[in-house]
Amino acid sequence: MMLVLITETSEEGSRKAGSLVAQTIMQTPALRLGLAAGNTPIGLYRNLVDLHRTTHLDFSRVRLFSLDEFIGLRSDSPNHYRVFYHQHLIDHLNIEPAHLHLLSGPAEQGIASSCVSYERLIQNQGGIDLQILGIGRNGHLGFNEPGSSLNSRTRRILLSASTKQNLGRVFYGEPVPEWAVTMGLGTIREARTLLLLAFGAHKAEVVAKAVEGPLSAFTPASSIQLHPSVVLVLDREAAGSLTNQEYYRQQSSQVMKGDQWFLEL
Ligand code: GLP
Repeated sequence: MMLVLITETSEEGSRKAGSLVAQTIMQTPALRLGLAAGNTPIGLYRNLVDLHRTTHLDFSRVRLFSLDEFIGLRSDSPNHYRVFYHQHLIDHLNIEPAHLHLLSGPAEQGIASSCVSYERLIQNQGGIDLQILGIGRNGHLGFNEPGSSLNSRTRRILLSASTKQNLGRVFYGEPVPEWAVTMGLGTIREARTLLLLAFGAHKAEVVAKAVEGPLSAFTPASSIQLHPSVVLVLDREAAGSLTNQEYYRQQSSQVMKGDQWFLEL
């Protein structure tokens, strides 16, 4: 199933994505949830925090995994994705510290072995049930830049010039690192369900390539086409270049009533 939900606004998309994650946690209290950083999922995280406050949505058994991290930032840098996850989500929820599995940007010599350990950790924990994803303007997933093997695993990756330029705008003046560590496309595809969010007109072209374009390592996000269970939540602008919109709307109206999802993930 590749389900494409098109919402009027990003706020509506974040709310509906939030209710999908919340419903899944209620069905599976020990959910293994993969997190993504970036601007896009912030609204979804805010919704989860609100649901925790207002409906006591319980995160005490939820286990969290992160998708990617920078290598080589100052240890106290605010740009670490680890900081982002704490700020937008973790610090506001009842997450057990032992359930937090966030990638770190290890020192040069430890990278290969820490990537292998991370893969092993995910496997030992039983795999990721639901992986939240954004999409880079160049089609990257996590930091799997164009040219990444569709079967790649967690590894160190060189950031592209365009990614560094985009990140530079939100990096508080600190230089953007050359390298990052990311789950591979093969790793991501092993998650049982992918929840990919994209909002805004600047994502329209890449969303169309990922969903309707040919499968290609040059558009790493097109690898979602190989996955049996994908939910995309797009606002009208991000869905703007999709040719099959009418079908997607029909399809999603079958599984949603208001903010309630009728989906077995
Ligand atoms: C970043 C992250 C990705 C994220 C993407 C889009 O570089 N590594 O995980 O999905 O770029 O970011 P944004 O949501 O800010 O557009």
